[in-house]
Amino acid sequence: MANPHVDHDLCIGCGLCAEICPDVFYMNDDNLADVVDGADCDAAGCCQEAADSCPVDAISL
Ligand code: F3S
Repeated sequence: MANPHVDHDLCIGCGLCAEICPDVFYMNDDNLADVVDGADCDAAGCCQEAADSCPVDAISL
């Protein structure tokens, strides 16, 4: 299903996605969100909420 992606040109590093959905999103060394290797949105069940919560719509699913 959904293959989450973070647009680093848009991400402002607010950290909400990693807070809402830590099984899928984490903050990298540049303080931008990245997707955990092998992340499973179906299992995590929080990708949509994370994407909807991103203030700059940097997350696509
Ligand atoms: Fe970045 Fe949006 Fe997450 S700004 S840290 S992708 S909630």
